[in-house]
Amino acid sequence: MRHDPLSYLSDEISALKSQGLHRRLRVLEDRQAARTTIDGRDVINLSSNNYLGLTTHPRLEEKALAAIAAFGVGTGSVRTIAGTMAIHMELERRLAEFKHTEAAVVFQSGFAANAGTVAALLSREDFVVSDELNHASIIDGARLSRASIKVFPHRDADAARAILRDLPPGARKLLITDGVFSMDGDLGALPELCALAEEYSCIMMVDDAHASGVFGRNGRGTIDHFKLHGRVDVQVGTLSKAMGALGGYVAGNRALIEFLHHRGRPFLFSTSHPPSVAATCLAALDVLLDEPHLIDQLWTNTRFFKDGLSQLGFNTGASESPITPVIAGDAQKAMTLSDRLFEEGVFAQGIGFPTVARDKARVRTIVMATHTRSDLQFALDVFAKVGAELGLI
Ligand SMILES: Cc1ncc(COP(=O)(O)O)c(C=O)c1O
Repeated sequence: MRHDPLSYLSDEISALKSQGLHRRLRVLEDRQAARTTIDGRDVINLSSNNYLGLTTHPRLEEKALAAIAAFGVGTGSVRTIAGTMAIHMELERRLAEFKHTEAAVVFQSGFAANAGTVAALLSREDFVVSDELNHASIIDGARLSRASIKVFPHRDADAARAILRDLPPGARKLLITDGVFSMDGDLGALPELCALAEEYSCIMMVDDAHASGVFGRNGRGTIDHFKLHGRVDVQVGTLSKAMGALGGYVAGNRALIEFLHHRGRPFLFSTSHPPSVAATCLAALDVLLDEPHLIDQLWTNTRFFKDGLSQLGFNTGASESPITPVIAGDAQKAMTLSDRLFEEGVFAQGIGFPTVARDKARVRTIVMATHTRSDLQFALDVFAKVGAELGLI
């Protein structure tokens, strides 16, 4: 009988189980919404990046259906061959206008936008100077580029300066941070890093995946929030989180976007979005502009829920956004917390190593604009009960 060459994977899985890091996929049996049904249980959903509730917004659904009726369900090609439809061009024009940049290009996901862009911009003789908690897609893009990777401690602009000071003055350097860090909910040191980028002639890049639709005027992101227009060369946003659909984009000057049309590998070698996705994103942009009360409601809910968790005595880290971690310590404890919350009707996923440090395992909560006050109060009551039970408060 043939030896199974993948048998080592069972050992890896057993190791994950013994470390409390093994997760079974939870399955939504209803819509991605503030209250939904997961694995047969009705729950308050505190694990979605659907910040504004746009995954089920009637205006987005209507435009998606109209695009299917008009243009069909797929594009049948990569963008550079036959997969560019007028609606893709319209979306990119609107994104550039929204972000106040010359141009924009859409990728299939935020991951593809980050990884494809970093890999395209740099090569072996260049340098990436990166916050230690930057997203995996930035790390992978940096590895693919073969540039030297220099990591500075989280949000520590002085440490970034010390790294830059030691690099060859003529070398090409990319200074990069997340706008909002996805596991901690704090903001990147954007103003300090922009100043450094100017001083040391770096390309400045910000991944605004969790800031798109959340921070800045009408959800324009952290560059708008910190008033840094014109000082960030490469702005990445996602269409998969607050925008309710799928995709990522890069906004910047015309040369950057034209270059990515030729060298951004996910753009060149992977099929473009179905027209319904582009139509959904266009409708999401309209909603950001016409219905700013959704963003106001997101922040009202965020304040209520964050204050509630802190008053209960949980360790919620240094979050400044709707993402609030409840730090439990080791992975086993975080997973038990998540499981007990779920049994009581609250879905907040446990997160452990390697997504966060081994001793900082947590459940990660995200409120949405569409949670009601009673949803959030219910969740806080459950947190109080389970937190006391596990000795976390
Ligand atoms: C900080 C950050 N950047 C990029 C991404 C990737 O975005 P997408 O889900 O659109 O691929 C994520 C999503 O997990 C993220 O948290």
